[in-house]
Amino acid sequence: MNGKVFIMDHPLIQHKLTFLRDKNTGSMEFRALVSEIANLICYEATRDLPLEEVQTETPMTTATTKMIAGRKLAFVPILRAGLGMVDGVLKLVPAAKVGHIGLYRDHETLQPVEYYSKLPSDLPERDVIVLDPMLATGGSAVDAITIIKRSNPKSIKFMCIIAAPEGVKALTEAHPDVQVYCAAVDECLNEKGYILPGLGDAGDRIFGTL
Ligand code: PRP
Ligand code: URA
Repeated sequence: MNGKVFIMDHPLIQHKLTFLRDKNTGSMEFRALVSEIANLICYEATRDLPLEEVQTETPMTTATTKMIAGRKLAFVPILRAGLGMVDGVLKLVPAAKVGHIGLYRDHETLQPVEYYSKLPSDLPERDVIVLDPMLATGGSAVDAITIIKRSNPKSIKFMCIIAAPEGVKALTEAHPDVQVYCAAVDECLNEKGYILPGLGDAGDRIFGTL
């Protein structure tokens, strides 16, 4: 696997992913699991945030302690399904800004169709983490990142829950500067572009539109 792809093998993530895949998991539990897994992946995706030393008065003495060094983040969910990950990541980085990119896959061509884009105006000062639970053919992620790059962010990472090998290849070839964080790389895509074994249609399962 490409050195820019980080697969989260933490037992808590893998355990929750099993319930997420289960076809008997209903929307309420599915939403909670997407949020929890996003929170745990984000913990790892922010591991390289730089720290600076500050002086802190504890009740006992003055100590040299650490804080995140003024690094500004923006999360950009790809609508719809990426919305399910926003709560989980904002629990870790509540001060982050949130942009939105609306894309859906045309069911016939599997090509992404853009219908909405609203990004923070200060993106050149921010590191961006793009959120989408599913990386299938990679078309949506590749296009979303191309759109975000027009606003010149400092850096871009992509966070998903399940990736297909085809999507990882497409994304890392189109955007070799973007690191990918996911909970699993599955076996393949079926003839309709769905990930196998996957979890089905993430947007429909989150929003109950099956
Ligand atoms: C899903 C998913 C990704 C995309 C992945 O969205 O959330 O955005 O498909 O497929 P790709 O890698 O082949 O582009 P979908 O188009 O179903 O829209 P939705 O989130 O509105 O349901
Ligand atoms: N989008 C989904 O929601 N699921 C897949 O398996 C592929 C694309």
